[in-house]
Amino acid sequence: MSRYVLPLSVLGTAVGGAVLLKDFVSGGACPSKATIPGKTVIVTGANTGIGKQTALELAKRGGNIILACRDMEKYEAAAKEIRGETLNHRVNARHLDLASLKSIREFAVKVTEEEEHVHILINNAAVMRCPHWTTEDGFEMQLGVNYLGHFLLTNLLLDKLKASAPSRIINVSSLAHVAGHIDFEDLNWEKRKYDTKAAYCQSKLAIVLSTKELSRRLQGTGVTVNALHPGVARTELGRHTGMHSSAFSSFTLVS
Ligand SMILES: NC(=O)c1ccc[n+]([C@@H]2O[C@H](COP(=O)([O-])OP(=O)(O)OC[C@H]3O[C@@H](n4cnc5c(N)ncnc54)[C@H](OP(=O)(O)O)[C@@H]3O)[C@@H](O)[C@H]2O)c1
Repeated sequence: MSRYVLPLSVLGTAVGGAVLLKDFVSGGACPSKATIPGKTVIVTGANTGIGKQTALELAKRGGNIILACRDMEKYEAAAKEIRGETLNHRVNARHLDLASLKSIREFAVKVTEEEEHVHILINNAAVMRCPHWTTEDGFEMQLGVNYLGHFLLTNLLLDKLKASAPSRIINVSSLAHVAGHIDFEDLNWEKRKYDTKAAYCQSKLAIVLSTKELSRRLQGTGVTVNALHPGVARTELGRHTGMHSSAFSSFTLVS
């Protein structure tokens, strides 16, 4: 019997540790029962992952939801699925490619002309640890999409958000920002060897810093802005790394 004690206690500790880890990384559940009837919400990158789940939850709560996404097939499918699940027919998709300043401008013009209000802007879309790609306008892809694209979008919609106050902007960052460093001399990684992880961290730190400054500038306008780390969830974010498809991730991360 005693020869089983050690292996069993090691197994017990490993299973217990994994359960605690899963609990820790998945974060807390939102206890709010608030509803948002009549509120117009834009969620970027809402065809999958955290953005889609956010859009679904806000649709359940009665919002007028705009999925702002780059792939028409994916966003039409996501909008249809959310409408079907929530029976909220005010869920629609619009084209937005954050790697194109032209696309961002076109999206903002349409929203400004066609929507009476924008109460909530959720800047969620991101690309993580992709190869050294550049956006249509020549910016390093992770900084370009995660930070610069959302920066332009926010500024183009700011008058609408102010006119719709009380309103809010939510910038989805990441705990990765703590490892971030912004190299103002070489934002686009043209002078250094490209480090895909550091580029992601730089983009997430840029989001946190600009959120703080925007928050200061928006005081007294009725528009609030916050940045957040969403916890760790099994999504398509690791598509360039293979990380999220490992057996360890499949067990540890929540869907
Ligand atoms: N999952 C996590 O554990 C975790 C942890 C910390 C922070 N976050 C943050 O949470 C947010 C959501 O991530 P996720 O995990 O849900 O990732 P995801 O499943 O990969 O979703 C990312 C979304 O961003 C969109 N996107 C990428 N490039 C775009 C572009 N150029 N224009 C418009 N949309 C674009 C994607 O669209 P396509 O499908 O068309 O590519 C997709 O809808 C991100 O800001 C991420 O950094 C996630």
